Order: sequence, then structure tokens, then C-alpha cells
Amino acid sequence: MFTILPKLASRHDAELIVLPFWMKPKKAEAAASLGTLKDAVMSPIAAKDFKGEKGEKAVVYLSKEKEPRALLLGLGKQEKVCVETLRRSYSEAVKFCQEKGIEKINVVLPDITEMRKVSARETIEGVCEGILLTNYKWEQLVTLDEETVLLKEVTLIGALEKDLAFVKRLESIAEGVYLSRDLTNGNADDVTPQYLASVAKKMEQEFPSIHTTIFDKKRIEKEKLGLLLAVGRGSDHDPAFIIMSHKGAPRSKEHIVIVGKGVTFDTGGLNLKPTGSMETMRDDMSGSSVALSTVTTAAALGLPLNVTAVVPSAENCIDGKSFKPGDVYRCYNGTTVEIGNTDAEGRLLLADALAYAAKNLKPTCMIDVATLTGSIVVALGDDIAGLFCNQDKLANELLHASKRVAETLWRMPLHEAYDSKLKSDIADIKNIGGRPAGSITAALFLQRFVGDIPWAHLDIAGTAFLSKENGYWPKNGVGFGVRLLIDFLSHKKNS
Ligand code: BES
Ligand code: ZN
Ligand code: ZN
Repeated sequence: MFTILPKLASRHDAELIVLPFWMKPKKAEAAASLGTLKDAVMSPIAAKDFKGEKGEKAVVYLSKEKEPRALLLGLGKQEKVCVETLRRSYSEAVKFCQEKGIEKINVVLPDITEMRKVSARETIEGVCEGILLTNYKWEQLVTLDEETVLLKEVTLIGALEKDLAFVKRLESIAEGVYLSRDLTNGNADDVTPQYLASVAKKMEQEFPSIHTTIFDKKRIEKEKLGLLLAVGRGSDHDPAFIIMSHKGAPRSKEHIVIVGKGVTFDTGGLNLKPTGSMETMRDDMSGSSVALSTVTTAAALGLPLNVTAVVPSAENCIDGKSFKPGDVYRCYNGTTVEIGNTDAEGRLLLADALAYAAKNLKPTCMIDVATLTGSIVVALGDDIAGLFCNQDKLANELLHASKRVAETLWRMPLHEAYDSKLKSDIADIKNIGGRPAGSITAALFLQRFVGDIPWAHLDIAGTAFLSKENGYWPKNGVGFGVRLLIDFLSHKKNS
């Protein structure tokens, strides 16, 4: 999608030229050289119609023709500009293009010598990510309205040829985010455990470094993944257990395992969810979409490390065969689990997956990603995901990645004393710990199955799926976690 021009040329063949401005105390000031356009674009500034505030926009016609138009784009106060400011401001420019049906634009990069906190690379990162992550619409199932026009060509003005490889990398990562969003947004009736398995299998053809193993229901029974089986019993769709590996460093012993919750629809089971709580539950496989997209992207980028997505996938439905509250089921590692509530199903299939991975995949670290609890939404809302971790080093690596990509994590406590809330009289453990600290007891439940392997749990119940767009996060599936984990992996390989 991107091409590069070092300087603003005198001829412009795009429909729109995006020009950045700072907010200064007296008036907006150009954030880059505007060349011959300088005089033409000054009128909204002179008239004080445009101040250069963060995300502010003004349109200027450069001639009697409609095109090219210039879009003045505010970046806010110069000393405060960071990568996230750039993502959010350039995202606004893309939304303007979507409103107007514009496909081809020239984008002028702000001058880095003017910025304190942002390097040249980071400038490109902020601008390109703001554009890429906003240039997405989920409209596969809309037939009545006209499709939103997406950007097709973007010329970055002020970048160098040598930056092109970096821009391509950002495009690959955005593709991964789109894949995660698409999988989450698709109908639950389409995105079934078998569908997720077929997507993972297909990646083998696309990337030679990827190897996929699928366990069907028979094999899941044979392997005794008893909790995954229990959750899937009430569904017409068989459960699936997916293992998709990218081997980028065959000689290295390091092996990162990403476990993704793959509940393709969560009715709550016999402890049925009420109306109002079930409508978005096709998003309950967001963790699996993140795990599969992250490993796919790691392969696309050729990251020199070994990373495996493990996805236990099932549909939590109601039927005569449904698993029952009060009954006891057995985990892969032999632990017996009393079902206190069939709606606490995510931790069940994740327990099987974590226990299986710990025993068979020789992981040096495990990270699970899951829309696990309503409780984390109450605590952190839909901007921030919960991080639970049994090792400070791993937690800090994830928190640093989180800062860099602006996918905010907040570390929550694995408070030992609450572990006793999971006590059962009739089994080794119960799958609910009561209403208080619900996201913590859910995490403590998972911790029982990871042994002494460094492990992190990301509860993305709030951030995975939005009822309203937020900056470059779209309404519905966000793909939260893909950029975070790719950043985490990219820094791993260097350490
Ligand atoms: N899938 C839900 C959690 C969820 C809630 C995801 C809101 C996205 C948005 C999970 O399976 C669930 O139902 N958890 C219960 C657990 C409870 C029964 C202990 C919850 O959080 O209420
Ligand atoms: Zn549930
Ligand atoms: Zn669920």
C-alpha cells in the first residue's frame, strides 16, 4: 500500500495531501516543510479556524479543482507528541478519507528534528500504524449499504527508500491484526472449532516454517483432555485441539507457547447467560484468534525463534448432553474439577491446554490469552487488559511491549490467600471462587496447571471486542494482543 518520496514534490497526483501541524500558543505551526503549498494552506490558520489540536482537521482546496485537497492535521503540543499521538492523529485522517471515499493519498511526515520523544523510525511507525489499523472494515455480511472505500495507495513524504523494509514489516503486522479481527467478527455459526482448525492447517501451505497438528474429538478423547470435552458436550460442533508451530530457530531450546481461549460461542451452558450478556459471545474465541494470528505473523516476518499457538476450541451450548453443574470432570493432568458454574468454561479448556503444553511441548514460557472474566471488565474497562504472571522478568517484558505498542496491560495480583476459594468438597478443585476478585480466582485456577514454568495470563475480556470504535480500534473485534505479542517476541530474539 505504501510508497515513499523523500520530499514534497511540486506535482501531486493524489486525491488528498495530509499535512501535519503543531499546536502553538499563538497559532498552528507546520510540523514539516510544506514547500510550495505553504501559502495556499494558511487561510484556516489565519482565520483561527484551525489550531493544530490533537486529531483536529481542516480541509483546504489548492486550486479551483476539487483535487488535490489538503487536509491539515493537528498533532497537538509539539513537546508532548509521542508515537501514540501520531497513531491517533493519522487515524483521524483515514476516517476522513473513508467518509469522502478517498483511495489515494500523500502523507507528509512530521519533521523529527522538531520532536523530543520520537525517533525517525518511531515517526514512521506511528504514522503507518495509525493508517493501517484504521484502514479496516468488517462488512462481509452487509449487503444493503455501499461498501466503505478503503485506502489503496499511500505515499509517505519525508521517508527514505531504506525505510521501506520497515514499512513492509508494519504492513505484515497489520495483516495479522486484520486476521485476528476477521476471525473474531465472523458468525459463531461459521467460525466453529473446525473452522479455526482449518485456518491453522492452511497456514502450513502458506509458510514453510509452520507445522500444524489438529486433534479431532476422537483424539481428544484418547488424549484425555477431559475438560475440553466437557465444555464441548452440548454442541453440534465437535471440539478441536489445535497446535500450530513456527520453527524459526531449530537449534534453539527456547520455545514460547501461546495458549488462546477458543470458545466459539459462550451461551453459559446450563448456567445460561441472560439476554444482554450473550449477544457478543462470538468474541469468546478472541484469545485463539490472537494466538493463531501472532504465530502466523511471526512466520510472515521470519522471526528467528520458536513459537507455538495452542488452541483448545469448543462451543459452550445447551443440550441434553451438556456438562452439568455439580458434576466432576477430569483434567488432562489428572486433576479432578467440580463444576460450580458451566459459564466458567474458559478456565476449564485452558487448564487442559496448559497442562498438555507443559507436559509435551517443552515450553520455556507460556502465555495464555483469554476473554476470561466479566470481573476484569469491571476492574479495568475496555481500554486495559489484565496481566497475571508468576515471574517478574516475564511480566516486565510484557509490560514493556505493552507500553511500546500502546496496548495497555495492568498487572494484577496472583494473591495466594484467595486460592482457598477454589476448594471443593468432592473434587481437587472447583471452577468458581465466588464474585469478589473474580478475575484473580480465575487466574489462580489456571496457575494450578502450569507447574513451575514461567507463565503469564492476559485477561482480554474488556479489550477484545468493542461496542463503539475507539481511535484506531474499530467497533467489534479489535485484535488486541497481536501487536503486543509480536513486539514481545521481536525483543526476545535479541535478548
Ligand atoms: N466469556 C465469559 C467472560 C466474558 C465476559 C467475556 C464479558 C467477554 C465479555 C466467561 O466465560 C464467563 O462467562 N465468565 C463468568 C465466570 C463466572 C461464572 C465465575 C463471568 O465472568 O461472569
Ligand atoms: Zn462463560
Ligand atoms: Zn467464556
